[in-house]
Amino acid sequence: MDIATVDVDLVGRSYPVWIGPGLLADNARWRTAIRGRHVLVVSNTTVAPLYLDALAQGLDGLRWSSYLLEDGETHKTFANVGKVLEALGELGATRDACVIALGGGVVGDLAGFAAACWMRGIDFVQIPTTLLAMVDSSVGGKTGVNLPAGKNLAGAFHQPRAVVADTYVLDTLPQREFRAGLAEIVKGAAIGDPDFFAWLEDHADALSGRETGPLIEAIARKCRYKAGVVARDETEQGERALLNLGHTFGHALETAGNYSEILHGEGVAIGMVLAAKLSERLGMAPATDTQRLVSLLRRLDLPTEPSGKHAASRLLELMRLDKKNTAGTLRLILWRGIGRAEIVAGVAEDDVLGVLI
Ligand SMILES: NC(=O)c1ccc[n+]([C@@H]2O[C@H](COP(=O)([O-])OP(=O)(O)OC[C@H]3O[C@@H](n4cnc5c(N)ncnc54)[C@H](O)[C@@H]3O)[C@@H](O)[C@H]2O)c1
Repeated sequence: MDIATVDVDLVGRSYPVWIGPGLLADNARWRTAIRGRHVLVVSNTTVAPLYLDALAQGLDGLRWSSYLLEDGETHKTFANVGKVLEALGELGATRDACVIALGGGVVGDLAGFAAACWMRGIDFVQIPTTLLAMVDSSVGGKTGVNLPAGKNLAGAFHQPRAVVADTYVLDTLPQREFRAGLAEIVKGAAIGDPDFFAWLEDHADALSGRETGPLIEAIARKCRYKAGVVARDETEQGERALLNLGHTFGHALETAGNYSEILHGEGVAIGMVLAAKLSERLGMAPATDTQRLVSLLRRLDLPTEPSGKHAASRLLELMRLDKKNTAGTLRLILWRGIGRAEIVAGVAEDDVLGVLI
């Protein structure tokens, strides 16, 4: 099976995203991203028993150790960054050391942040093991941890040296997590690639059935789209904010449910539909595009509306806390239709309530 390669183009810091089956064992390829002698593998207690041995076979001849986090978003903390830094200290890691993140977005965000902090920034390699991490969190260099005051509030932009997306590891990923990753793929198409959206409509059943060929193509297309946006706007001064389509609604739903009712990708799916409905209400986009979005998400077995457990007023209150807002007004990512997302400032709260009720 062919390996797809997507290049993230950043002057002096460009890197490849390799996508395909069996990449973990293909150490001749990914070892090229490791420059020094020291490697710290950061993983978690669920992923390490499944894949750390396979990775270790490629680390022959290097001085390496591993640090395992407990599983779950609640462990994406500053305290655990400190523990990873201590592990780098124990390893005697020098400036040319490399951190390898083996896991989903939680592991990748935290390990990348630790790599950004150790000696003010060392190399790191992302080996994403969830579909969400393959198509979203491992590409683009956003790293960080949660604080009691909110999600992802502390972090740094720190690009990896390579991203190794071995599609074999998806075999052990629970179906619900897999579907949440599909939502992030749909998001990329919905924001800026109408042809990709139509392709997803044509291949929805194959993707639901985890068919390898279409899956690799979908991952590569989403990564290519994201890589283009990141290359144009690495630190989110403008266009990169579009990647947050559905997030303000989604985050409010995630927070209202204490991060235990819905997964991030599920929040994004519902959030995109709400953003499409709001765009329709504001006269920005046709209803037919909302219907196409809803129908694609349903075919992928993703939720398309809030559970109804949380009052609209509570969700609006949470949306007011979003990082994208500017003094006192809501700033949302809406769309003019499939593939045409737009940043809209000054959205009236009554209109938002109108789609939440
Ligand atoms: N940096 C970014 O740009 C960015 C973008 C999107 C999301 N994120 C972050 O990503 C995180 C969510 O990532 P996620 O959805 O990957 O969640 P996750 O890292 O919690 O992984 C989901 C679950 O799957 C398990 N798992 C991982 N790989 C597995 C495998 N191959 N087989 C079996 N089980 C496996 C994990 O242990 C976990 O229980 C959030 O913290 C979010 O803030 C970051």
